[in-house]
Amino acid sequence: MNLKQMVGIESAKFIQDGMIVGLGTGSTAYYMVEEVARRIHEEGLNITCVTTSNATEIHARSLGIPLSTIDEVSHVDLTIDGADEISKDFQGIKGGGAALLYEKIVAHYSKEVIWIVDSSKMVETLGAFPLPVEVIRFGSQQVFKIFQEKGYNPVIRKNSDGEYLRTDSNNLIIDLHLESIPNPEQLADELIHMVGVVEHGLFLNMVKHVIVGYEKGPIILDNPKF
Ligand code: 5RP
Repeated sequence: MNLKQMVGIESAKFIQDGMIVGLGTGSTAYYMVEEVARRIHEEGLNITCVTTSNATEIHARSLGIPLSTIDEVSHVDLTIDGADEISKDFQGIKGGGAALLYEKIVAHYSKEVIWIVDSSKMVETLGAFPLPVEVIRFGSQQVFKIFQEKGYNPVIRKNSDGEYLRTDSNNLIIDLHLESIPNPEQLADELIHMVGVVEHGLFLNMVKHVIVGYEKGPIILDNPKF
């Protein structure tokens, strides 16, 4: 079993009957979704799920997982998602899979959030992973120029065909190659107040548990702030 599968299966143990569950996006969340489906069909787990991307929606639907939209549910009990980087103080970068906007909305309305990662995602300080920023297309070159002037080394993300990648909301992603983010709270505040920025990939003060995959088995880290 690979590490992503290990943590995906482990995380699904946190799901209980009657819950409304947020299903994350990415190659690690993929295995969690598979395990959720197995528990529904083999163990009779009775839950409703909301998804954080079109890709996860298609995957979950194909497995027969009961789905609602984020606007149809009163709340979300638990969201399980992947992450790109997690610092020692439980702050994260997400959006490597371009789903950061829906992921942040679903996480925001969740009572609890769990991230599932392999050990390579755990870091001292955030920033080696390029920070994704979702921007509306109109005026995006102006936002790009401001990022350049600030020395944030922006790159507009392209898809495998070499075209500008469009998110599920038809926006663009600008990846900021910062190398290090010494003050994530300050940067998050700056980014979210820029005109044209829809959302950024700093997920701060959100996660309750992180399940980290190691060769010898999964380790569950509990955020002392929750
Ligand atoms: C998608 C995400 C993913 O959760 C993140 O990129 C981790 O993905 P993976 O498990 O494939 O490494 O934020 O927008």
